[in-house]
Amino acid sequence: MPQARKEIESIPDYVPGKSIDEIREKYGLSHITKLASNENPFGTSGMAVAAYKKCAAKLHLYPRGFAPELVKKLALKWKVNEENLIVGNGSDEILDLAARVYLNKGDYATGASSTFSVYSSVVKTVGAKYKAFPLESFYYPLESLPGFKNAKIIFICNPNNPTGTYFSNKKIFDFLKKVPEEILVVLDMAYRDFTDEGEPPLHKWIKQFPNLLCTRTFSKLYGLAGLRIGYGIASEQIIKALKKIKPPFNSNYPAQMAALAALDDVRFVEKSLKTNSEERKKLTQNLQSLGFDVLPSGANFVCVKIGKTAKEFVTWLESKGMIVRHLGSFDMPEWVRITVGTPKQNKDLLKIFQISR
Ligand SMILES: Cc1ncc(COP(=O)(O)O)c(C=O)c1O
Repeated sequence: MPQARKEIESIPDYVPGKSIDEIREKYGLSHITKLASNENPFGTSGMAVAAYKKCAAKLHLYPRGFAPELVKKLALKWKVNEENLIVGNGSDEILDLAARVYLNKGDYATGASSTFSVYSSVVKTVGAKYKAFPLESFYYPLESLPGFKNAKIIFICNPNNPTGTYFSNKKIFDFLKKVPEEILVVLDMAYRDFTDEGEPPLHKWIKQFPNLLCTRTFSKLYGLAGLRIGYGIASEQIIKALKKIKPPFNSNYPAQMAALAALDDVRFVEKSLKTNSEERKKLTQNLQSLGFDVLPSGANFVCVKIGKTAKEFVTWLESKGMIVRHLGSFDMPEWVRITVGTPKQNKDLLKIFQISR
């Protein structure tokens, strides 16, 4: 029997959100709402779906490995050069490439204890160590992180999954100024589209900070989670290094074409952003008026304190056809994360929460 490397065994299994089919089978319910994986509640951009369908005639062909059409469009969007971009099979893949390129066995990387679990898995996969720091009142302790001399990579998730808390562009900029140049900062911006503050000038940041790698995704705002497509923006040196080990055909052709079309679907994007912003505010206020603690969120989800019975509460919600995410695996066992849904979904959720009070 071949033996997996020792460090692989120490990686906890990824705990995905429960699926609609799982809950349907378990409770025999016909109507189920899933607000557990921060997917777009409006589905996928119509223009992206049309572009995806058009690809059917070309499925026998390999995709162009570096996704040149998409890279060109993204370069214009972010005012960067094409050499500053890499497309991945989801932004997950960019995180994995970064760990494999920049960490040696025994090195340290650091990130929060309550954050996206993929950071620690990609670090451990290469035999490096993930030193987790606790959040301070649900925020990254940005002041103390640059002093983390042993780290080769610092992972910052802004807004953070699962808390939704986030820093202003100025705070992140001030933090970046303090990080020594030899430390790679991975700034995961998977949820940054939903933050009410405007985008930071990434074209300036990557020039000033050649040690900065920003990751972005089409999975959330553009509703393309199932196709797996995301990207990284960084200095030429970083992108060049990541490209060296990128699997040649990592992002598939339909995903590239759907992402390209999704960027043009202004109506879908605006509707998604406007509804998310309005509904996040309403959901937060309504849950607070029922007596729940809700963290301020700049994402497409809210983080809610339920208390010691959070796990049982989530199971009870599932029995009512409502799937949300219990945060035990995020080191926050008294909390749940709820994706901001459509107005109707949010109303349904609140009705069930009301019964529980
Ligand atoms: C913080 C964060 N980063 C990255 C990802 C991965 O996104 P993708 O679907 O692009 O791999 C997720 C997915 O949920 C996430 O929550």
